[in-house]
Amino acid sequence: MTTPLTTADATALLGVYARVGPLFVAGEGSELIAEDGTRYLDFVAGIAVNALGYNSPVIREAALRALDTGLIHVSNLYRTEPGERLAAELTKAFGGQVFLCNSGAEANEGAFKFARKWSKKTEIVAFSGSFHGRLFASLAATDRPDYRRPFEPLLGGVQIIPLGDIEAATRAITKERTAAVIIEPVQGEGGVRSVADEFLVFLRKRCSETATALIFDEVQCGLGRTGTRRASGWGRS
Ligand SMILES: Cc1ncc(COP(=O)(O)O)c(C=O)c1O
Repeated sequence: MTTPLTTADATALLGVYARVGPLFVAGEGSELIAEDGTRYLDFVAGIAVNALGYNSPVIREAALRALDTGLIHVSNLYRTEPGERLAAELTKAFGGQVFLCNSGAEANEGAFKFARKWSKKTEIVAFSGSFHGRLFASLAATDRPDYRRPFEPLLGGVQIIPLGDIEAATRAITKERTAAVIIEPVQGEGGVRSVADEFLVFLRKRCSETATALIFDEVQCGLGRTGTRRASGWGRS
């Protein structure tokens, strides 16, 4: 049995988040269980990303099978089975190829780098109300002044324009300068705001005409959460 935590243990963690409530020691389905045994219905669900719930048998069995192999970390330099199998499954569902990484912000940073390298251009266009993560480039594309201000200057060359404004987007997305446009088909932190299908269809067309990468940030709304594999898939039918 482990020793109980003290106040000193709690303050050992840097206070970058204002944590609330009791100390949780277990989870079951949609409930969290505190150290005194009280069960709480968790409406936060990992900020909407733990769609399978706590202690899902699917995740549990996969994690146990992975531990049984004894392979903990082998670097990106060796082939191992789980990454290749996951990539193949994702490719079957979504097409394309897969870049595995550790977080949503890192996925977006990776997408910006792919876009710059592919387009040989540098600028990025993002939208009002957006949230794309807390790393330097993803924060530069995030419309949250309170998150941005302490860390400025952020990555240059990123414009944030009004969401849904076709005229502003036509001016901002150019063949000469724009490497990528990044958009959440349904904004999460921005307040569960759906982007109009016509605007997504317009962006697809404008990006194709100007050789610009169109990045759909579906960290919150993808992988079936809106009832289709990609939230950006709704406008295509
Ligand atoms: C739309 C969106 N993109 C990116 C991120 C960043 O993901 P992470 O916290 O895993 O870096 C989030 C996190 O909430 C998000 O909602």
